[in-house]
Amino acid sequence: MTLTTYIREIPKAELHIHIEGSLEPELMFEIAERNRVVLPFSCVDEVRKAYNFTDLQSFLTIYYQGMMVLQKERDFFDLTLAYLKKAHTDGVRHVEIFFDPQGHTERGIAFETVISGIHAALQGGEQRFGITSRLIMCFLRHLSPESAMTTLNCALPFRKWITAVGLDSSEKGNPPAKFATVFDRARAEGLLSVAHAGEEGPPDYIWQALDLLGAARIDHGVRCVEDSRLVERLRTGHVPLTVCPLSNIKLRVFPTLGEHNLKHMLDMGLCVTVNSDDPAYFGGYLVDNFQAVQEALNLDRNAIRTLAENSFRASFLTKKEKRGYLEELDRFCLSKG
Ligand code: ADE
Ligand code: ZN
Repeated sequence: MTLTTYIREIPKAELHIHIEGSLEPELMFEIAERNRVVLPFSCVDEVRKAYNFTDLQSFLTIYYQGMMVLQKERDFFDLTLAYLKKAHTDGVRHVEIFFDPQGHTERGIAFETVISGIHAALQGGEQRFGITSRLIMCFLRHLSPESAMTTLNCALPFRKWITAVGLDSSEKGNPPAKFATVFDRARAEGLLSVAHAGEEGPPDYIWQALDLLGAARIDHGVRCVEDSRLVERLRTGHVPLTVCPLSNIKLRVFPTLGEHNLKHMLDMGLCVTVNSDDPAYFGGYLVDNFQAVQEALNLDRNAIRTLAENSFRASFLTKKEKRGYLEELDRFCLSKG
């Protein structure tokens, strides 16, 4: 079996995917047409050409614009099911999906519309593809903590569909500390927590995510290497990092994939996972990310296996579910590896 096939077929989980970031231009046009939304682009190619980013903020502006076509429950359903179909062809067995309710409620779409569409597709995805899932509700950190608290209150009637809260959007100037109270409240409701930190922001934001938000995982976290005490905390505390290689190149966190620190972090004993972040915008889904990083950093089968294993260990699955997937992974590696 070639390494390419091995990467595609190895059982794995994806833990860092913004569902709105999986909106392909083709589906964007289809939904815009049926909702009678006029896009500032004349064709799919023109949209793709606009996906040239210089940093996180330059991407976020386009990302919030793109999601404006999503208005009906059916739109959120179609978006989520399209992602799951792709994930299935990538050998993904389990997904933990972020959604950004404030990106929708701020423009008058009801919270219930958003979550009902996503939830129904996740259930359908489990029936059709056997892909298990968890849902993570993110707060937009460029908005106020009061807006985050209002969002949490809107979410509570749907508490059973949500596993964790997260924190995303413009990192610089919006430290995790700003959201300590709303995360306390979410955790009091029994929700787990994760946070984007150390993507563009400093290592101190990772400390804050751990100490003030109780983050069980750090999304991105690549700037942890600038603080050796922090690396030790992440390593001994087994705090997973959900790293997104192609995203980091498109948003210029690293100049090239060859200079990405993923392998260095693995070698230091950190629980690193590979993820796609916003695949429709960054030029690749999960397998594309694995493939690109394997080639750029010359990862061998053992490293690929470790990354796949980490993805299940770092997930919010139950112990029993994790054991099931890890056994499936063992069987795969024994026969193909
Ligand atoms: N929202 C969607 N993608 C994001 C990223 N890479 N960082 C922060 N917020 C995001
Ligand atoms: Zn992200």
